[in-house]
Amino acid sequence: MAEDILVLKDVVKSYNGQRVLDGISLVVKEGEHVSLIGESTTGKTTLFKVIVGLVPPDSGQVIIFGHDITRMNEFQKRNLLKNIEMQFQSGALFDSMTVRENIRFILDEETHLSGKEKETIIEQLLRGVSLWNASENFPYELSGGMQKRVAVARALSTSPRLALFDEPAAGLDPVTSARIIKVIKALVAEHRMTIIVATTNVLMAQQFAERFVILKNGRVHTDGPWPELLAKGDEYTKKFLSRDLMR
Ligand SMILES: Nc1ncnc2c1ncn2[C@@H]1O[C@H](COP(=O)(O)OP(=O)(O)OP(=O)(O)O)[C@@H](O)[C@H]1O
Ligand SMILES: [Mg+2]
Repeated sequence: MAEDILVLKDVVKSYNGQRVLDGISLVVKEGEHVSLIGESTTGKTTLFKVIVGLVPPDSGQVIIFGHDITRMNEFQKRNLLKNIEMQFQSGALFDSMTVRENIRFILDEETHLSGKEKETIIEQLLRGVSLWNASENFPYELSGGMQKRVAVARALSTSPRLALFDEPAAGLDPVTSARIIKVIKALVAEHRMTIIVATTNVLMAQQFAERFVILKNGRVHTDGPWPELLAKGDEYTKKFLSRDLMR
C-alpha cells in the first residue's frame, strides 16, 4: 500500500470573517496525481498555501509524510517542507535574482548536489521550458507567461516528493501550454513525484490526472476518477465537468 503523503483533516480558514476553506478533508497517496478543480475563488490557491505552511489554518490538521505541520516549530516545518515545492499562480519569483539564480537559490537551499550538478539541472529545465536564452534575465524583463514557465521549472528543480502546480499553463498560448504540460509530465514520471494541479479548467485537469477533487464553496464537493464523476456525479458535478471535458 502506498504511503499517505498528504492528509488534510477538516481544514478551516477564514479571511475577514468569510470562510474560504470550510472543512477540507483529503488524502493523497505517494505517487498519486490529483487535479484540484473548482471555479475561481473556491479556495484552491489558499489550500495550497496551507499545505506549504504559508497560511496557518484556523483549525484542522495538515499532515505531511505523517507529521502534522500545524504542530511544528518553524525549524521542523522548514525541514519537512524541503520535500514539497509549489509553483505559484503569480510566479512569485525573486525580483533581484536572474532566472538562473531563481532556480539555483532553491537548489542551494534544499539539496546537497554539487555546483556542476545544479547547473546541469538548471540548463535542462530551462531548455525544457524554452527559456535557456533568458537565463540571465531578471523576472521584470520577462512576460507573464515566461515568468510562469520559470516558476514551473523552479518547482520541478529539486524533484520534490510532492509538487503543487497552481494554474501551470493558464494564460499561455496553446503550443507553449502543450510544451509545459509535456515537461511537467515527463519529469513527474521520471522522478515518481506526487502532484496536485490546481486549475479552473477541466480540460487542463484532464491532462494531468484522472482523479478529480472538485472544490465548491470551500469544501470538497466530490472526489474520484472523472469518468465516474461524469457518469454518476450530481447535477453540479456533471454540469461543471461537461463544460469542456474531452470524452
Ligand atoms: N490573504 C488574503 N486576504 C483576504 N482574502 C483572501 C486572501 N487570500 C485569499 N483570499 C480570498 O479567498 C478567496 C479564495 O481565494 P483563492 O485565491 O484561494 O481562490 P482560487 O480558487 O485559487 O481562485 P482562482 O481560480 O481565481 O485562482 C477569495 O475570495 C479571495 O479574495
Ligand atoms: Mg488560485
